[in-house]
Amino acid sequence: MQIDLANTNALVTGASRGIGAAIARAMGRAGARVAVHYHSQRDQADTLAAEIGQRAQTFQADLGDADACVSLWKAVTERFGRIHTLVNNAGIALSCPPEGDITGWVRGWDATMAVNLRAPGILSKLAVQHFIEHGGGRIINISSRAAFRGDQPPYLAYAASKAGLVALTRSLARGFGKSGVLAFNVAPGFTRTEMAEDFIRQYGEDYACGDIALSRLTEPADIAPIVTFLASGLADHATGCTIDVNAGSYVH
Ligand SMILES: NC(=O)c1ccc[n+]([C@@H]2O[C@H](COP(=O)([O-])OP(=O)(O)OC[C@H]3O[C@@H](n4cnc5c(N)ncnc54)[C@H](O)[C@@H]3O)[C@@H](O)[C@H]2O)c1
Repeated sequence: MQIDLANTNALVTGASRGIGAAIARAMGRAGARVAVHYHSQRDQADTLAAEIGQRAQTFQADLGDADACVSLWKAVTERFGRIHTLVNNAGIALSCPPEGDITGWVRGWDATMAVNLRAPGILSKLAVQHFIEHGGGRIINISSRAAFRGDQPPYLAYAASKAGLVALTRSLARGFGKSGVLAFNVAPGFTRTEMAEDFIRQYGEDYACGDIALSRLTEPADIAPIVTFLASGLADHATGCTIDVNAGSYVH
């Protein structure tokens, strides 16, 4: 079966690199017009938008800033008109060692929550209103395996933010399904991106590989087709679900 996203518009956050770039690329290939959101990597975002074609455009915003989240949604909807799919992908994994000083730890906690949880919350709130006014839509949140099994001590805030995203997704699914709003959660395990490279430097590749049932680490391109599938409408009755993409971590 061919996934067809023709005549649909999508906003993918954090699309300049890593998993977000793979998602934007795959959705574009399936026919969607993609709003490629980026924070600071303008050149990478521009290159990706040119590669995607389909009238893709780039949009800058610091999602750590609540007002910038609102401005991003406004800019995208003004430019694209109707949005059919919101992919909340942007995220940060700050290392905040518990033995560090409390001021720095709290700063890391707040920064993590702002980008990983508050921004998807704001964008989802605005998307729900928009979807209800325009005949429905889908929200796909990229959380993490860490939401379910926890993470290393320096990443307490990261795991907590991703667990919050799971609850956000389920609440959106429960609250707005009858209004045509579907919400899904995709939970990657260790995936080879720049974010993961930091972790590999800290804990080693053997640690990451020893944790999975497959012989290679997950790549961004292993996550993207699942997001495209969820965006297509073929899985709407799975609303509220989490799809684990973690190379068999749980069965290993
Ligand atoms: N790589 C992994 O092992 C892994 C595992 C589970 C979940 N995830 C999740 O997948 C998503 C993508 O991660 P990735 O591995 O591609 O990481 P990445 O660091 O390569 O990409 C993160 C993206 O988020 C954007 N971003 C960061 N801070 C931002 C801010 N303040 N404002 C706007 N954008 C900001 C970056 O610009 C970048 O495009 C994240 O939500 C991450 O938590 C990653």
